[in-house]
Amino acid sequence: MTDDEPDAAIAVVGSYNHDMSVTVPDLPVPGETVMGEKFEQNAGGKGSNQAIAAARGGGDVSFIGSVGDDRFGEAARELWAEEDIDAAGVLTGDAPTGAALIHVEESGENAIAVAPGSNHELSGASVREKQAVIEDADVLVTQLETPIESVQAAATVGEAAGTEFILDPAPAQELPDELVAAVDVATPNESEVRVLAGHDPDADVEEAETARTVLDRGPEAVVVTLGADGALVVTDDQTVAVPPIAVDVVDTTGAGDAFNGAFAVARGEGADLVAAAERGVAAGAAACTERGAVPSLPSRSTIDSYLDD
Ligand code: RIB
Repeated sequence: MTDDEPDAAIAVVGSYNHDMSVTVPDLPVPGETVMGEKFEQNAGGKGSNQAIAAARGGGDVSFIGSVGDDRFGEAARELWAEEDIDAAGVLTGDAPTGAALIHVEESGENAIAVAPGSNHELSGASVREKQAVIEDADVLVTQLETPIESVQAAATVGEAAGTEFILDPAPAQELPDELVAAVDVATPNESEVRVLAGHDPDADVEEAETARTVLDRGPEAVVVTLGADGALVVTDDQTVAVPPIAVDVVDTTGAGDAFNGAFAVARGEGADLVAAAERGVAAGAAACTERGAVPSLPSRSTIDSYLDD
């Protein structure tokens, strides 16, 4: 992109959570109490993380969501202002701001439980009230931490306006055909792609074939994020493996969000699917090198530096 071109306009519809993380030697098994080490609190939520990742990646970002009338909601609004994100589309609901309890083990792997709180107050009608944000965007990004009716409403508005719709189907759940059919690019991880294709999350199936089953439901492309193995771009015409970038993993929290934010900006700037996925993989790798979601989301120059190496 040259300096005189306008930034890609990205509309993100999704969640905000107050993240509370504990580092543990190994993730606890049911019934087990483990002694952890560090406790950290950070801004989180897949929607807000992806909005911040897109803004740091060079996008002109608007966010639609819902937070509580509490100090966490206030902190979220301050953060979006600092990150230059237009949060005029964020409601203040009756329920408390969403919260996430995160265990991060030494390998960097995590396990997350979310109390959605106000995220679940984002209705389809409230998204439609802000539909100009989606209509004016080059790219719409959603996830599944807000009610399906909010995601469906965003998808319907985006489809009518010709806005490219990227769905990160996380957390995994079965989705109505109408919603999947409206998706342009789905960005599931390995277990999410199985669920989207109608399998159990741990089914023993091959990724490319599973992604092709998802294509039959309507999306133009499925980009499977493979963590330390990079990503796989699957369309009717091509199956391309995007190689990983090796890093010392500290914490994988937010890596998928970093991928989606960078991927969305690249798509908004006109990059093809593979080039956009390469930026996503670089952003995801960078995000694994620091603790927490928001603190680890990389700037555009950091993403560039990973690709220059
Ligand atoms: O993708 C990471 C995010 O998932 C965390 O920030 C947490 O809030 C959960 O939404």
